[in-house]
Amino acid sequence: MRIRKAVFPVAGLGTRFLPATKAIAKEMLPIVDKPLIQYAVQEAISAGAEELIFITGRSKNSIMDHFDKAYELETELEQRGKEKLLAIVREVLPPGVTCIFIRQAEALGLGHAVLCAWPAVGDEDFSVILADDLIDGKLRPCLAQMQRVYQEYGTSVIAVQKVPKEEISSYGVVEVQPVAPGLGEVRRIVEKPKKEDAPSDLAVVGRYILTPRIFKLLERTPRGAGGEIQLTDAISMMIQEQTVLAYEFEGTRYDCGSKLGYLKANVEYGLKHPEIGEEFTQYLKGVSGDLNSLAPKEKKQG
Ligand code: UTP
Repeated sequence: MRIRKAVFPVAGLGTRFLPATKAIAKEMLPIVDKPLIQYAVQEAISAGAEELIFITGRSKNSIMDHFDKAYELETELEQRGKEKLLAIVREVLPPGVTCIFIRQAEALGLGHAVLCAWPAVGDEDFSVILADDLIDGKLRPCLAQMQRVYQEYGTSVIAVQKVPKEEISSYGVVEVQPVAPGLGEVRRIVEKPKKEDAPSDLAVVGRYILTPRIFKLLERTPRGAGGEIQLTDAISMMIQEQTVLAYEFEGTRYDCGSKLGYLKANVEYGLKHPEIGEEFTQYLKGVSGDLNSLAPKEKKQG
């Protein structure tokens, strides 16, 4: 059992990155030299996906262009003998992988974005990847880890991570019944609970393997937190009918939907980048010595 179809909801407004996201999608912001969406696509392909379904909104042409063949650029690089760069450009979409673009006319929420993928997904299990959650899976990409769980149990699997209590109200949060180390059956799931109402410290992050039953449930999911149609609310209905597993993946997640998470990812990926890693490390060492002089001065009283 392999998940062949991966859905990438990229129709959010990306308001936390304005004005950078005024004309380009948040998912096109680069981590060192690759846009976020390319990391997400590579992760899906490494887990066996061969059909990529992008749910796009306004200003998303750049994503379409990124995964399109760039004839002029390739010819130019070929003529100049830039073989390495040519390979980098061609690797963006490996042979045998196809892309489908579906427009979400209005940003009505993640649940609604996933529902838009129904005609392309049809009646098979599929994955959802949120590209702004960049996950360095260390030994194995996060979705490939989840695929192993899916192969063993044959049910929906959602990725979760422990987060500090102060941050819990920004996430979907699960209560689980333990099944194995790092794996539990979801008993309850709530979107953005108040700190004191959170059922646990296990937050849902942007990787899901879902059965197509979710579409029927999304169709009747009313607007929830933030006035949006929440995927979490549909999953909450699904656990009444089917087993949904919560999997604590191994690796580091960077919340690249926030400025701080995005900067952290750039620093960490920069440090281990084969081309610039060493020089960047030296640079950061120098900067860290100067940090006290660079830090904003405390305001004087009076
Ligand atoms: P976010 O909650 O990060 O929202 O969406 P956002 O609009 O992208 O960013 P901010 O909060 O305004 O800065 C989580 C994921 O769901 C997608 C986003 O593209 C992102 O990958 N999404 C969200 C949609 O595709 N459609 C929507 O209507 C909402």
